[in-house]
Amino acid sequence: MAVDRQKKFSIGNWKMNTDLADALVLSQGVRDGVEGINGVEIILCPPFVWLYPIAETLKHTPKNLSLGAQNMHWQEKGPFTGEVSPMMLQKVVKYVILGHSERRFHFNESDELINDKVQSAFEHGLIPVLCIGERSKTNSGSDEMINQLVRDLNEVSEQNMSNLIVAYEPVWAIGTGDAATAEYAGDVAKKIRRKITELYNEKVAENLPILYGGSVVKSNIAEYMDEPDIDGALVGGASLKINDFVEISKEIGRYR
Ligand code: PGA
Repeated sequence: MAVDRQKKFSIGNWKMNTDLADALVLSQGVRDGVEGINGVEIILCPPFVWLYPIAETLKHTPKNLSLGAQNMHWQEKGPFTGEVSPMMLQKVVKYVILGHSERRFHFNESDELINDKVQSAFEHGLIPVLCIGERSKTNSGSDEMINQLVRDLNEVSEQNMSNLIVAYEPVWAIGTGDAATAEYAGDVAKKIRRKITELYNEKVAENLPILYGGSVVKSNIAEYMDEPDIDGALVGGASLKINDFVEISKEIGRYR
């Protein structure tokens, strides 16, 4: 179950939003809207509690629509009150967002912990969407971002690198409307690819899907997709509106 850059990616991170009725309307609306679109894998990441009802309603869904979780624990089971394990997710989702900045900074997730989660996702056949990004715009903080990348991928095998998606999300651009310019995001994506070449090799780097996230909307998505190193988007706010997310996904699909 490998990923590559032949297909592009449109990921909707709903965060802690929606009630059950909203979640069903949103997921079915997206399903209907993206039917027949080729060249893009569309991944909905609702809150944990809606995963199963959505999975049930999307059973006969087009092949280009999948589900992802927003987080997970790295162990299979045990005394971890309030946590959700990879074993529980395995049957319901194909993807899992790990290392989102809201987890890093509101819940103190360290790179060491994120690395454990990344490794556990591979062991359980889940594809991690690893989020990295600097906090400060002025620092243009690429060192912080590259350090996250290196630490979060500690001891990840070359083989597992073909089951990974990286999302570059500068923290200052998330939910602020202050999106990074496409040129800036494209340069960072290139930098990530260079680092992966250094850590692994060119083949691994060339195969790795790298997404941009942070205030992506339907009016700016094409600019990001024009960047040769950007393979899709991780969308927060705009993924909560059926029409916006469908439009974004369609646009991404044009760049196959
Ligand atoms: P945003 O969020 O699109 O609302 O900026 C992106 C994210 O946090 O993944």
